[in-house]
Amino acid sequence: MIGTGYVGLVTGACLAEFGHRVICMDKDSSKIERLRNGEMPIYEPGLDALVAKNVKDGRLSFTSNMEESVSQAKAVFIAVGTPSSRRGDGYADLTYIYAAARDLAPYLDKYTVVVDKSTVPVGTARQVARVIREANPAAQFDVVSNPEFLREGAAINDFMRPDRVVIGIETERASEVMKEIYNPLYLIATPFVITGLETAELIKYAANAFLSMKISFINEMANVCEALGADVIDLAKAVGLDGRIGRKFLHAGPGYGGSCFPKDTLALLRIAQENGVPVRSVEAAVEVNAAQKARMVKKIRDALGGSEAGKTIGVLGLTFKPETDDLRDSPALTILPPLVEKGAKIQAHDPQGMAEAAKMFPEFSYVKNAYEASENADVLVLFTEWNQYRALDLQELKSRMKSPVFIDLRNVYNPKQMKEAGFSYVGVGRG
Ligand code: UGA
Repeated sequence: MIGTGYVGLVTGACLAEFGHRVICMDKDSSKIERLRNGEMPIYEPGLDALVAKNVKDGRLSFTSNMEESVSQAKAVFIAVGTPSSRRGDGYADLTYIYAAARDLAPYLDKYTVVVDKSTVPVGTARQVARVIREANPAAQFDVVSNPEFLREGAAINDFMRPDRVVIGIETERASEVMKEIYNPLYLIATPFVITGLETAELIKYAANAFLSMKISFINEMANVCEALGADVIDLAKAVGLDGRIGRKFLHAGPGYGGSCFPKDTLALLRIAQENGVPVRSVEAAVEVNAAQKARMVKKIRDALGGSEAGKTIGVLGLTFKPETDDLRDSPALTILPPLVEKGAKIQAHDPQGMAEAAKMFPEFSYVKNAYEASENADVLVLFTEWNQYRALDLQELKSRMKSPVFIDLRNVYNPKQMKEAGFSYVGVGRG
């Protein structure tokens, strides 16, 4: 397993749990040292225990030496990062992928399946094959595309009980190896989609783009609800109960964030435009998402009486979703800065994200719990639906706040109960 980031580490630990022998490799030797000491570089529920168990049982180990990880391996997974390019043009940056391909090539000493696990633009698998062939013309290998569908915070369960496994493959020989790797999932009758390389690569982008559209759609419906005095929760429930639509991913909120949807939608748009086939529905979803975040700035400003200067905003949640410490493209971190620029003070709490946030936003103050975040606050804004924010003592909050204004960007609370508790309550789409 090349790369011990989110995908590599979860995949490595889960494949070891399947009974395989997995050697996770990362160039960053200090990270490997920490992993060897049982320290996880990310917060993901259950990951530390799974890693510890498989290390103890001798199936999982860590190295910064490429040769140790690759030579003798039946399959090598490439699970390095594919951030948006620094040019800011939306393309995925494939530097790390190609570097990994070049670096592993010399150690392919027998037939090996090289598996692209990272989310990569269509055509990358063939480029990876070219890079390996150039670096080691004698290597015997096949490149396979095997996109991941893990959600942060639920990654282990998503790996162990996936809706489907997608494998883009061109030879029977590689197919046999992949079947062996995923045998435990075959045994529990997981659907497998075995297809061509390009299709597998595109499936990943299409899935994330569709989910992004679903979220942007419900966010726009929420805005319509606000204008017309309708309720988006009941609307989403009723619409989602249609089996053709489905209830999942119809939660209105401050816009989607994270390391995947924002990056993958842009990358898909670039690939599509480059090939003369614009995907307008996804373009709209991306635009709507940016507008939703801007709308949340206004929502907070309006709740503060039209001006944020000199006001204190209590913040519940900084991460882009619960059960992760990931702040990448988190809505909170897009919505708060314009308010700070105009003179608001931020008093924030997050169960996992504060240490990282403090590096990016040293001007915020960080507090120990939700109640401290409400202390003297003019408004309290719930950005992330962590479980510990779901049953707060409302009277305690109210007694600490300067004015009892609660903005619930995840629609966790019941508007009627909040009103009864004496709050001025603002949700998303709760007309
Ligand atoms: C997403 C996909 O769900 C995974 O299937 C995929 O494997 C992963 O990207 C990836 O490409 O690696 P993730 O980014 O971890 O997973 O998180 P999600 O649970 O999908 O949430 C993404 C964002 O959408 C969050 O900000 C969340 O709050 C928001 N969201 C989600 C909504 O606003 N409403 C919803 O109904 C659902």
